Amino acid sequence: NEKTSPEDMLFSYKGILYPTAFSSPETLEALKSLEIRSDDVILAGYPKTGTNWLEEMVRELESADAKYTEEEMKERINAEKELQMFPRLEFGDPGIYERMKKLPSRRIISTHLCPHLLPFSILQGKAKVLVLLRNPKDTAVSYYHFYNNMPVLPSFASWDEYFAAFMNGKLTWGSYFDQLVEWNQYIDHEKIMMISYEELKENPILGMKKIAAFFEFSLDEEDFHRIAKKTSFQAMKEKSKETHGKFGDILFRKGIVGSWRDLFSKAQNEEMDRKFEDSIGRTKLAA
Ligand code: A3P
Repeated sequence: NEKTSPEDMLFSYKGILYPTAFSSPETLEALKSLEIRSDDVILAGYPKTGTNWLEEMVRELESADAKYTEEEMKERINAEKELQMFPRLEFGDPGIYERMKKLPSRRIISTHLCPHLLPFSILQGKAKVLVLLRNPKDTAVSYYHFYNNMPVLPSFASWDEYFAAFMNGKLTWGSYFDQLVEWNQYIDHEKIMMISYEELKENPILGMKKIAAFFEFSLDEEDFHRIAKKTSFQAMKEKSKETHGKFGDILFRKGIVGSWRDLFSKAQNEEMDRKFEDSIGRTKLAA
């Protein structure tokens, strides 16, 4: 279980770090060739904002709208496996974008990349993008545990050391704040919608209704209730061995709002408040 050197675990592409185990500069370069379809369902957000949760919800919403049979559902999942697709757009070998052409519509594509690294047509409104946000403090704490528990990422000796890296964007996928500032430019884009972890947590049904309306999925009231149950933290955690293998316990940790209080010092709390205020404090997104 010994970790290799941090230099081998990470690579830098255009000034941002990524895990060597899942991606490469060649893959990120090849991504530019991805052909976006107008019915692609694109999910974007910084790591640890609740990506796996949102993805599961959206998969369920999409399949309820499409009314796939059980058999069709299996076929769709198998198609992804056969094409050796990974759960994030930026993962895999450079040939992945060519293979993705064979995937049946509607493709559900999830990514942690910041907007300027995504294929241009996504941001030109070819397909709809749902952006997931989470408050920076809980995101930081979640990412800390993830970093230290994932065998393919280097560990931090202490929370304080990690906190400095989070604040300086020296983590995989770069700076939380830079990403937020970048997404904020698209806040009024008609094909981009933002939703927060906190609002999904507070009222998952209302959150899912907003998502369904955005992607023009039509579902019954009953569907929303069924999916809310199926995608609750408890339900997803219980199934995590089956769905995410050995990473299950790492990915489904606490699933609550406010766990930052366990680790933040008073000074760190103030420092992050200041950084948030300075980066996006006076924008519509913060409101
Ligand atoms: P915590 O570490 O705070 O528990 P990502 O999927 O982007 O890696 O995000 C992981 C975070 O989402 C973890 O946060 C995880 O527990 C939380 N999460 C996963 N599934 C969830 C669910 N169904 N409901 C609420 N939170 C969930």
